[in-house]
Amino acid sequence: MQDRGIGCIVERRMMEHSMERSVEHAVTAATEVHLIRVARGPMKNNNYLVVDRASRQAVLVDPAWDADAIVAALDGTGAVLRGILVTHGHPDHTDLAGPLAQRYACPIWMPRREIAAFKYAAPQLVPVDGAPWSVGALRIEPIITPGHTPGCTCYLIGDALFTGDVLFAEGCGICPDEQAAHQMFDSLERLKARLAPHTRIFPGHTYGLPPGQRFDHVMQHNMYLHFPDRDAFAAFRLRKGQSMRQLLAFR
Ligand SMILES: [Fe+2]
Repeated sequence: MQDRGIGCIVERRMMEHSMERSVEHAVTAATEVHLIRVARGPMKNNNYLVVDRASRQAVLVDPAWDADAIVAALDGTGAVLRGILVTHGHPDHTDLAGPLAQRYACPIWMPRREIAAFKYAAPQLVPVDGAPWSVGALRIEPIITPGHTPGCTCYLIGDALFTGDVLFAEGCGICPDEQAAHQMFDSLERLKARLAPHTRIFPGHTYGLPPGQRFDHVMQHNMYLHFPDRDAFAAFRLRKGQSMRQLLAFR
């Protein structure tokens, strides 16, 4: 971990495990995930710079609040920014997408449903549906996971899943109503069916466990992944007495 002295911490997670041998290991060994912690007021967000180690091409996930920290991370890695991934339309995930896309002349990839729901507009905007695409050796697979918002999307890159506000290490994003909570249940089931146990989870916020937890570890610690059906899930997700203070208890 390296403190760059500009109010940010850039943490390199090389995602290599010398004791693990698998095809997936060969894929993730080619990828670097750099965590950039950013904050404004009570908000604390995790931004991520994902770098293809061979070509030094990179994508940035959900940039917000602190352009200096993000630019420093890019400069520090020597990576060339090829695009910005937006998981959903909430302002703490889109804040710097426009300015940085302009600065680096790169696209903003955003779920099509989120563009419509939030009426988001930017010159470099490219709608994302379900189809994967590549940046250098980075294969980016969008997994559409509505519930927190109508079209919020997780991005699977190698063994790393960037979840925005869909899945946290210990919980999941809030849902505005019962229909959305039902969608969230389905989305979490979709992730459970799709992810490998060793997939690393990189959420938009940290409440306790640091980013980069293995999915099998998250399964053990996250009760939201263990409800038997949509209704039981929705009843708990929408339960009364949840405080804003708890919601904003970021680390
Ligand atoms: Fe959100």
